[in-house]
Amino acid sequence: MHETIIVLDFGSQVTQLIARRVREAGVYCEILPCTASVDEMRRPEVKGIILSGGPASVYGEYAPTVDKKVYGLGIPVMGICYGMQLTAHLNGGTVKPADEREFGRTEIVCDIANPLFKDLPQRQTVWMSHGDRIENIPGVNAIAKSDNCPLAAVEIPDIKFYGVQFHPEVVHSEHGFAILKNFLFHICNCKGDWEMGDFIEEEVARIRAAVGDAHVVLGLSGGVDSSVAAVLIHKAIGSRLTCVFVNNGLLRKDEAQSVQDMYAEHIAEAKLVYVDATDDFLGLLAGVSDPEKKRKIIGNEFVEVFRREAEKIKLSGEGEVKFLAQGTLYPDVIESQSVHGGPASVIKSHHNVGGLPEDLELDLLEPFRFLFKDEVRAVGTELGLPDSVVWRQPFPGPGLAVRICSDITAEKTRVLQEADAIVRQEIEDAGFGREVWQYFAVLLPVKTVGVMGDERTFENVCAIRAITATDGMTADFAQLPHDLLGRMSSRIINEVRGINRVVYDITSKPPGTIEWE
Ligand code: XMP
Repeated sequence: MHETIIVLDFGSQVTQLIARRVREAGVYCEILPCTASVDEMRRPEVKGIILSGGPASVYGEYAPTVDKKVYGLGIPVMGICYGMQLTAHLNGGTVKPADEREFGRTEIVCDIANPLFKDLPQRQTVWMSHGDRIENIPGVNAIAKSDNCPLAAVEIPDIKFYGVQFHPEVVHSEHGFAILKNFLFHICNCKGDWEMGDFIEEEVARIRAAVGDAHVVLGLSGGVDSSVAAVLIHKAIGSRLTCVFVNNGLLRKDEAQSVQDMYAEHIAEAKLVYVDATDDFLGLLAGVSDPEKKRKIIGNEFVEVFRREAEKIKLSGEGEVKFLAQGTLYPDVIESQSVHGGPASVIKSHHNVGGLPEDLELDLLEPFRFLFKDEVRAVGTELGLPDSVVWRQPFPGPGLAVRICSDITAEKTRVLQEADAIVRQEIEDAGFGREVWQYFAVLLPVKTVGVMGDERTFENVCAIRAITATDGMTADFAQLPHDLLGRMSSRIINEVRGINRVVYDITSKPPGTIEWE
């Protein structure tokens, strides 16, 4: 068993980032709900525990808490924001609303003799986010302070506790990753010998154990996540996996064919069924313009298609399908619902999470539910998939439906497919395909007046969206050269009937999202 760090989740939007940083440092990490039993943590491979942040106040009515026995396991515990306040609360300290709430960049002065700040500058910028603060805790040593917070970081040697009133896991904390690494390597004494290859091995074993001798149907979109999931699950259960590629009529231009070609070339050993369900999807979506309704309809219909395919497998005598596998990623989960029942709020129902019906009848198999896109890319490369698959730009399951900001028709889909193909081709030809995380066209339900030749035109606006990101949780608009933007604009207006104006979207995430719906 690999050395393990357990993160206990108190509902912060960035809990998973902690786990991701720990894995990046080469230590295996699991997230458990804060209500998990301490017996689950009493294992020789568990070297330390991190209590995440969370939106609650320890004195709030529904404040999540933790079994006090976690402080008696004999291993180091680190508390981040809420995790630190809760520790104070449970160990005889006092927590009070701060006179001045601190959010955002703050300078701290730290005790560099403490192992948590080993080899780091005494003054550093961290990302604070707290309304409450700790007044005192018995047996505490202050190891960092800021102007407004005399206990910005603490140590309680008696219970091997380290607490920080800021978020070391976010990139805005200048030396945050180094602080986490100090906790892992100089406090928990981890060796750091875990790598992505180990994830594959462990996940293959987990999938085999979970699936037993049942069959699995996997929703394949041709994107990175589901393609890598197909290879991983195939490695685990071989011919008992059937991949189903559904054409929902909302794919990009020529994509139905290109995904099948890609599959034949790189994932050929796994079984593929292609289902053209264009008419079903477009029929159900007719007249629907509400984004959440579209997402739910599409999610439900995908599941209907998967159910039908599962039934066919059963009727053919091959065996019983008990699982639906998906390439769901952590950002899909966190934005669609709160993980572990925590209080994070729903941003949009990613079709493969929030769009699923309650009576699904199939168990979900989602090996990447706790990974980020770049981690899945690393898994894909490790599994031998080529860059052309691993570095495909992300494409949402509901497809062009969430890029047509009105009701959907076959004609609007055609117009958007044409414009989108031009955007993709121009950005790739200009050599920005890898640097820009996602690039696509959006069809707006706004008509504007134009003039072409001597004719007046009155047609739709198309927006170009191109963003840079590392994990899709945050994004910035790409600073594309003006001549490239100009080329895309004039080609779209000249070549695509139905569009007479092009605009460039310069919104970051947050406050925007990457997709328009
Ligand atoms: P947003 O629009 O939420 O998108 O900023 C974040 C990333 O997720 C993709 N996305 C989806 N992927 N099913 C998916 O598989 C969905 O329903 C879905 N909605 C958005 C989006 O393209 C971006 O990469």
